[in-house]
Amino acid sequence: MSKPEHGSWTGIGDAERALLELMSIALSADEHAARELCRRWVRKPPTGSDQVVALRAELRALLTTLPGRTPLRGEAVRDVSAPSPAPEDLPRDPETHQTLLRLGEVDGATGPVLDSSCKAMVDRLVAERPVRERLLEVGLQPSRSVLLSGPPGVGKSMTASYIAEQMKQPLVVVDLASVMSSYLGRTGRNLRAVLDYAAARECVLFIDEFDALAKRRDDKSDVGELKRLVNVLLMELDRWPAGSFLIAATNHLELVDPAISRRFDVKIEMPMPEYSQRREVLALLPAVRAGDVDDECISLLAVATDGKSHSDIVKIATGIARQAIVEDASLDGLSERIANYVMDTLRGKSAVDSEVRARIIRLAHESLGYSQRKIGQLLGVSHPTVSRALSSQEK
Ligand SMILES: Nc1ncnc2c1ncn2[C@@H]1O[C@H](COP(=O)(O)OP(=O)(O)OP(=O)(O)O)[C@@H](O)[C@H]1O
Ligand SMILES: [Mg+2]
Repeated sequence: MSKPEHGSWTGIGDAERALLELMSIALSADEHAARELCRRWVRKPPTGSDQVVALRAELRALLTTLPGRTPLRGEAVRDVSAPSPAPEDLPRDPETHQTLLRLGEVDGATGPVLDSSCKAMVDRLVAERPVRERLLEVGLQPSRSVLLSGPPGVGKSMTASYIAEQMKQPLVVVDLASVMSSYLGRTGRNLRAVLDYAAARECVLFIDEFDALAKRRDDKSDVGELKRLVNVLLMELDRWPAGSFLIAATNHLELVDPAISRRFDVKIEMPMPEYSQRREVLALLPAVRAGDVDDECISLLAVATDGKSHSDIVKIATGIARQAIVEDASLDGLSERIANYVMDTLRGKSAVDSEVRARIIRLAHESLGYSQRKIGQLLGVSHPTVSRALSSQEK
């Protein structure tokens, strides 16, 4: 029998082969290969091991507890093991010394009210976080970035902090005013500093007004600088590590360079609220709850705020509540104040749906005890219209 040739690994058992494979990876300090082997053994433990379940669990633990340096895409290796963000080590502009990032507040209050498809997308992103390693083990890329777009006041910033809170990660927010510089090249340098900082540690980075940085390159103004920024972003997005999560938001998706928006793993377009979301926003407001506002009043205010953003609706309702405290020192009359507001906004509007008008009339008469005459005045409608609305319900 001829002697087996060294290096060919022939004529040896599976257990020895596994050890040799491991040693060759260790001696060449190839972390990527080590993780691959680890994942392979999770899927299929080396032949001969008789404690498969325990081995799998330990291998999984190694993959999760030893911070990953392995990039998910692209060539560059990024280390996400830097210490958590702290106020004293946030990056600064070298000339102005202003911090380029601030620590965001994650308040733990109720999350944003979203339509079902946005909610499902947000929930899925959050749910991926704890199973990142498992996704990698089976060859799937966890999502690392999301681009939120939509009109002002629909909850983009609120959603960013909700995601960070749900992922149990610190939120770091880009201070655009400090990052943007009128000096050539400085914005790009600052942007890189910000992205390097966030990519080096486990956190959620939030870039609001993203269109200012990622403008389409067909914009004629200042093309050289824009191109540089877009290139910085393209490169960083490609090598963004799985340990860190990037959220960008814009009111003007159409201004964002398509090459950049394509790079985001998930894109969520957040619409203006429908009736049911307007109702939910109102019903969840602490002042509305404290004032024990009549259900029907909430519905009517939701009807009357058609076309308004979540933020507008919050402002309207809290404005009414604030006035109640100023004038009555109590929220006891909040239902009545809301009903009056609704009547006021609908006053003289001929296009108001007759069923809506009838509902308001009935609410004012039955729940609030308003006389028919008073309702007519508040709504700007005739007495017969009021009595018709009241009798229509009696049928
Ligand atoms: N989806 C929502 N659910 C509940 N409240 C909301 C929602 N959207 C906005 N609000 C209310 O409006 C306030 C402002 O919202 P937010 O700043 O998140 O909007 P935005 O989309 O980021 O607006 P902008 O484009 O102006 O930055 C929130 O603090 C909250 O009170
Ligand atoms: Mg915002």
